[in-house]
Amino acid sequence: MNLAIVGSGYVGLVTGACFAEVGHTVICVDNDLKKVHSLQDGHIPIYEPGLEELVKKNVAAGRLSFTTSIGDAVEASKVIFIAVPTPPQPDGSVDLSFVEGVAREVAVHIKEYRIIVDKSTVPVKTGEKVAQTISRYNPSADIDVVSNPEFLREGSAVEDLMKPDRIVVGVSSDRAIEPMKEIYTPFNAPIMVTDLNSAELIKHAANSFLALKISYINAVAAICEASGANIERVADGMGADKRIGRAFLNAGIGYGGSCFPKDISAFIRISRELGYQFHLLEEVERINADQAQRFLKKVRESLWVLRHKKIGVLGLAFKGNTDDVRSSVAIAIVQQLIAEGAEVKAYDPKAMDKAQLLIPGAKMVEKAEDVAEGADALLLLTEWTEFKPLPWQAMKKKMLSPLLFDGRNLLNPEELRALGFTYTSIGR
Ligand code: UDX
Repeated sequence: MNLAIVGSGYVGLVTGACFAEVGHTVICVDNDLKKVHSLQDGHIPIYEPGLEELVKKNVAAGRLSFTTSIGDAVEASKVIFIAVPTPPQPDGSVDLSFVEGVAREVAVHIKEYRIIVDKSTVPVKTGEKVAQTISRYNPSADIDVVSNPEFLREGSAVEDLMKPDRIVVGVSSDRAIEPMKEIYTPFNAPIMVTDLNSAELIKHAANSFLALKISYINAVAAICEASGANIERVADGMGADKRIGRAFLNAGIGYGGSCFPKDISAFIRISRELGYQFHLLEEVERINADQAQRFLKKVRESLWVLRHKKIGVLGLAFKGNTDDVRSSVAIAIVQQLIAEGAEVKAYDPKAMDKAQLLIPGAKMVEKAEDVAEGADALLLLTEWTEFKPLPWQAMKKKMLSPLLFDGRNLLNPEELRALGFTYTSIGR
């Protein structure tokens, strides 16, 4: 099928590449001409495993192209996906001006039946507003609006999209169901058809529930620390219950990224607007914010004063396998260390360029082991698996004092302690 995707950011680009991979003809639209040219040449502005190969392959096969023209894309495509950013505003609500702008622009180009699909994460009832906007700017437009939220995780976005657990399709009219099923049949996943509002809610409710699992296990980790229990054993024991599941029960310095912090506060906000005070999610946010502070407190308790202390930091991205530093807890911790006068040397396999802009006071080093040179303490802040086999013994020798704070429970406590580290992690 001929498909258009408006917005070639994270979601739009991965979605477009995967749709092309299963045989659809996809036009990706972006208003940044330079970006469009470089994408057409196969240059990907983000680090995402497998994406570059997919884009190059499908551009070469003629199934994937990039343009700045919404008009051309709307004319050529029966289904138009909106995948533009929905950034947070200072009051916790979502800025929907990009979605609204695309709806207006798409509207004026519609000449025959089109399906407009919202892929961006939006508050419930946004689809209704998109439909109203299109009708206002083109009263004769024959359209259906669909909500089709994405559930991809950065770092495994291609795999998540190619092998989804489920596809959620929220429709306002039955006419849109068959074309949507046709698009997704090649992905061999259950397709769940709902009404528009339910589909929008599924996304916010799912992300909030995952964040709730993380805050829950982080709260239990605090009890483990106070009682001498081990959070990993507790999480394994809980997670073995199929009704609970082990995923997203990894204790750490808290969740970050471009989705969870934004989506949870947007969900709290929209709930309030609809007359429900979502105290449970407010507590999820509070526990999450507290997690970084609890971690910093442990560092302060060991080092006493942070001023002029040399601190080596491993990991800056908001999680492993990505170069994304948006709302990264690691960055927030480094900012705090620098504010308190510490001298920070940091390393991340992919995120150093983006991180440097946010933490200009930190010195980036070329190799992970270099953060140990003369360090009073090491802080592991991102769950990159490649940190596990670092030459810890050699690193310890380079340090002033062998303090190691593992904010992601990535390393084996017994092994690190056997090497002579004073090793501290979360809840174990
Ligand atoms: C998330 C959702 O998983 C995805 O379905 C949605 O489409 C977008 O938001 P993403 O932000 O890429 O994806 O990252 P995710 O893997 O969910 O991790 C989010 C944060 O939670 C990271 O900071 C991660 O380190 C943290 N996390 C995750 C934990 O602290 N513990 C866990 O057990 C899992």
